[in-house]
Amino acid sequence: MSEEQATAASGGIDVLLHTERTFPPPPEFAARANASDPGIYERAAADPEAWWGSWAEKLDWIEPFDEILDWSNPPFARWFTGGRLNVSANCLDRHVAAGAGDRVAYFWEGEDGTRKEITYGWLLERTQRAANALRSLGIGKGDVVGIFMPMVPEAAVAMLACTRIGAIHNVVFGGFSAASVVERMEVSGAKALITADATLRRGKPTPMKAAIDAAIGGLDSLEHVIVVDRAGTDPPMTAGRDHRWEELIGAADPVCEPEPMDAEDPLYILYTSGSTAKPKGIQHTTAGYLTGITATHKLVFDLKDDDVYWCAADIGWVTGHSYIVYAPLANGATSVMYEGAPNYPAEDRWWEIAERYGVTILYTAPTAIRACMKWGDEHVDKHDLSKLRLLGSVGEPINPRAWLWYHERVGGGRCPIVDTWWQTETGAIMITPLPGLTTTKPGSATIPFPGIEAKILDDEGNEIAEGGGNLVLTRPWPAMARTLYKEPERFVETYWKRFGPETYQVGDAARVDEDGYFWIVGRTDDVINVSGHRLSTMEVESALVSHPNVAEAAVIGVADEDTGQAIFAFVTPAGGASGDGALEADLRDHVAAKIGKLARPKRMAFADDLPKTRSGKIMRRLLRDIAAGRELGDVSTLRDPEVVKDLKRQLSA
Ligand code: PRX
Repeated sequence: MSEEQATAASGGIDVLLHTERTFPPPPEFAARANASDPGIYERAAADPEAWWGSWAEKLDWIEPFDEILDWSNPPFARWFTGGRLNVSANCLDRHVAAGAGDRVAYFWEGEDGTRKEITYGWLLERTQRAANALRSLGIGKGDVVGIFMPMVPEAAVAMLACTRIGAIHNVVFGGFSAASVVERMEVSGAKALITADATLRRGKPTPMKAAIDAAIGGLDSLEHVIVVDRAGTDPPMTAGRDHRWEELIGAADPVCEPEPMDAEDPLYILYTSGSTAKPKGIQHTTAGYLTGITATHKLVFDLKDDDVYWCAADIGWVTGHSYIVYAPLANGATSVMYEGAPNYPAEDRWWEIAERYGVTILYTAPTAIRACMKWGDEHVDKHDLSKLRLLGSVGEPINPRAWLWYHERVGGGRCPIVDTWWQTETGAIMITPLPGLTTTKPGSATIPFPGIEAKILDDEGNEIAEGGGNLVLTRPWPAMARTLYKEPERFVETYWKRFGPETYQVGDAARVDEDGYFWIVGRTDDVINVSGHRLSTMEVESALVSHPNVAEAAVIGVADEDTGQAIFAFVTPAGGASGDGALEADLRDHVAAKIGKLARPKRMAFADDLPKTRSGKIMRRLLRDIAAGRELGDVSTLRDPEVVKDLKRQLSA
């Protein structure tokens, strides 16, 4: 890893606390654990295909597969070829057929306190109706359907309805702006969009349909907009294009046979940020994805029949796709789904929910853990969390201080913590403890899941047995992304070129220690991880420079004790504007409108010029040093040293 990459990667935190403490699995947990035989690692490594095949066999197949893996044309893997199945049938029909129609799939809680028990039977009925409704609009196998929804059960129904008929869903996180929704619908050629009138956030309905209405009007491919009534706000409807969800599915036939899908048929696409301004459409397939997520969900979360499982992510991110919707449903779990903010109406909302439903497994992100820590122990202590038996973390490196707090305060010192490393591209958890087997070290995601092989390579591609470098995955796995939607060359270029077509370049820097434990440091590319949300520096820069008062902008990630990383924008004003508080506020609003509130820079500095090399390339490395108040690294290639002095003066003022 170059020095520049290392500096970029150390945008992560852990200035907070290091600990040498290790945590072996509690004996009573280990005794009952789903994975209790350490031999599974060796067996899976010796014959990964047999290992994954054994998980695929637990699924319900319409036609069995002939071959487990075809890796003859890397990096384009084909898993379980010849097999046919349907994801919604695996998530719903097989449980209902086995007599679990009344089993609760989700304890749903609205932010306003509304509570619903969503059963597998109800989900199946609604899914079939919604599937027929989509079909009645001319949507079928291979068509793309956008989903822009709050955290309501209908979001899961919408996803499942797509899978029922073989349509490919393209979910956009509800916090994204209208412009982002439009971009994602346009590049995927979405034929329909399912949305809601509004979402409740901190007690107020925030419009969704009305917010995107004007923007989606110009989309050629978009024929239908289906609107779920969440908040009774009665948004404007365009005749012929817009449909009310309730009316549409109320009129639809309640029986819809599941479409037999080829194992390798696309299941969904999910756009995520990369090194360029253009988001990447990560494409997942049917059988491999379902195999990877059900296996990891069962073993990493040690899922049992009587568990109440809560993944407190949003459906709009891959964590929501894999571990709120598909894996828990396919595994027949009972989950909690919560719509709103963790601190509304009070800072104990999460713990109140956990107590009410007797949550046994909680899976969340370090940013949320740090926020709860900041709000104070008393909010946690007020509630009986004695049913909790396992805690999970995902999305960003967890600093040991937050880890220890989570362990002691939330888990009462008795719950193992699974720090799970993975990505939108990997589909399923890749590096993680198995809670009955792995001794954990706070801050380390520990070791690869059985069947997964991870390595650290130096920039020349040599393996580093102990130390830091580029994290790679060196064996295909069933839930791996198959391509970027309609951009196979970009898929190869981005992930499979640097170290060859059989070595997946993760884009993270990591360190491996003497026990073979992996410690994720952060990204090595131009991706910033804010609260576990991936944003590309280029995306934010293009949003900034599209403002008439901006001549140039450079964006970097800086360490932030709340959000892990935060966005710092260096801006050169244009058009006679002065870099003042008013422009700063204006630019923050502008970025929110272009991308979404989550992309607003936390800090900004204005300068007449930015530090550049003589060839005119912005020296981000120096910007990082300046932002962190560090001694500047090598400045020999800097064109104009005055620029740097000016910025330093400004930031120290
Ligand atoms: O940098 C890693 C970080 O999040 C990136 C993936 O982001 P995304 O595709 O949005 O998926 C997030 C949820 C799976 C990774 O490249 N990351 C994810 N989990 C961890 C992590 N960093 C450290 N520790 C983790 N447990």
